[in-house]
Amino acid sequence: MTTINNKHVLITGGASGIGRLLVLRCAEMGAAVTILDVDEAGARAAAAEAADRGPGPVRAFACDVGDREQVAARAAEVLAAQGPVDILVNNAGVVSGKPLLELSDEHIERTFRVNTLALYWTTKAFLPAMVARGSGHIVTVASAAGLIGSPRETDYAASKFAAVGFNEALRMELKRSAPGVKTTVVRPFYVDTGMFAGVKTRFPLLLPILKEGAVTERILRAIQHDTPQIDMPWMVRTLPLMRMLPVWALDGLADFFGITVAMDEFTGRETPAS
Ligand SMILES: NC(=O)c1ccc[n+]([C@@H]2O[C@H](COP(=O)([O-])OP(=O)(O)OC[C@H]3O[C@@H](n4cnc5c(N)ncnc54)[C@H](OP(=O)(O)O)[C@@H]3O)[C@@H](O)[C@H]2O)c1
Repeated sequence: MTTINNKHVLITGGASGIGRLLVLRCAEMGAAVTILDVDEAGARAAAAEAADRGPGPVRAFACDVGDREQVAARAAEVLAAQGPVDILVNNAGVVSGKPLLELSDEHIERTFRVNTLALYWTTKAFLPAMVARGSGHIVTVASAAGLIGSPRETDYAASKFAAVGFNEALRMELKRSAPGVKTTVVRPFYVDTGMFAGVKTRFPLLLPILKEGAVTERILRAIQHDTPQIDMPWMVRTLPLMRMLPVWALDGLADFFGITVAMDEFTGRETPAS
């Protein structure tokens, strides 16, 4: 069991979507909360809202988690301000949503910096204190796109496959070297945060667009119960089995379930970088 009350929880990407809801709920549950986000205004707004909901301090830091030097600098400030992190939620993420030949080199690099490399920088910053104290929890918010690729996701899916591999290797390392430090990987289908605005599902009963509140609550339960893996909805659990099929059958199932056309009307959130 990992309790959240009285713990120091650091959430990347806490200005928006799932990260913002995690910030609010962790504050309500009595945690001290730290946010790292590129969206400084959004992070400050989330911190102010969260501070009204719980007893612990809530701090917001402007930080591009894909930038190794920024993470190191912010980590030193975080440790000085609030001490070691008990629960690290690697949640910040970006999506480009374009076919490969329309993706700029900058988009591709950004996707890997934020969705993959950031996992290394934040975990290297905050894991040592967890190992030293023999307890802690690291959450990797990956995606069902870390289990199956689809059109318009060459950068996103590859970055999330890497995130899934990062978590798996880290989990096995920690079981041997620091068994008190737990991990959780989160592999949701699309979520209604706006990040994937325009995405469609062919079978909403089997593969619903998930509610951000429901995903947030599952993540919190997984932390509390040391659950190593969350796949949402349950259909996502069948993907590793589907991968045992010949490629033509896997691709046929992806067509049948509408996975290959889900991103056809993707617009995403309007941002200057998109
Ligand atoms: N939404 C989905 O359908 C879905 C499905 C599966 C998995 N996921 C994963 O779930 C996580 C959260 O997604 P969400 O839907 O809640 O996204 P969201 O609403 O867009 O929130 C992501 C937050 O991360 C911030 N961010 C982006 N780049 C950053 C950087 N370099 N450094 C620090 N913060 C950065 C964003 O700031 P800006 O707004 O300024 O970019 C935003 O505040 C992501 O890892 C995503 O890949 C999402």
